Amino acid sequence: MPALYSVIGGSGLYNLGENFVQESQEIVETPYGATSAPIIRGTWQDCPVIFLARHGESHRIPPHQINYRANLYALKQQGVTHIIAVNAVGAISADYEPRTIALPDQIIDYSWGRAQSFSGADGSGEVHHIDFTYPYSSSLRAMIIESSNVANIRLQSSGVYGCTNGPRLESKAEIIKMSRDGCDMIGMTGMPEAALARELGIEYASIALVVNWCAGVNEPDSGDSEITMEKIMQILEQGLEPVKQLILLTLKRVNQ
Ligand code: HPA
Repeated sequence: MPALYSVIGGSGLYNLGENFVQESQEIVETPYGATSAPIIRGTWQDCPVIFLARHGESHRIPPHQINYRANLYALKQQGVTHIIAVNAVGAISADYEPRTIALPDQIIDYSWGRAQSFSGADGSGEVHHIDFTYPYSSSLRAMIIESSNVANIRLQSSGVYGCTNGPRLESKAEIIKMSRDGCDMIGMTGMPEAALARELGIEYASIALVVNWCAGVNEPDSGDSEITMEKIMQILEQGLEPVKQLILLTLKRVNQ
């Protein structure tokens, strides 16, 4: 099976930018319902890629209402073998300050009420207990780490991603608890996406962009620690550029 890469864009990443040449756009209905947005196929500086905006084209779908199963099922149907997901996160650990690009290597799932699996729903009558010891693809992570070295893009090359349900942010006590659990960063969209990709046999890695300190932990005391969408959007605007560079370089290297 030839490799086919997909990028799932998170908050702030609703397209791949000017250098992306679109070839087709398809609204896909799956047995699990519709995808968040059209599945966009094209080339990015000559690299074939499929793009999907996780929150919809204009960020209309909150994390707990995303149809993760439809998204992953549709990508598999299109022949996708590898997914580079982009996720905005808040940081807990001191060395993940805002604007850090991180490549998590572990997950703790605190989300609830989401359709977590194809098992029991795919009509196969089979139950699959996938191995999730290492939730992300080690080969894809290695390629992204190599690309960051080549391009001199600073990358936190590991870390524990805690997935909350959202859409609200966390209380201080929740963050202290998750810190004790070992989480370095918190987001709302990492699960069940990573597990569904594993169920479908898709190599999956997440590039997480830190956009705030979680519940103000580690924040220098400026007297203005409220986390606002305005501040987050500002960081996303600047911080997503190197994230895109990192993905593009990875695609170029795998297409060499
Ligand atoms: N918590 C959870 N998810 C997030 C955060 C946060 O602080 N920032 C961006 N996504």
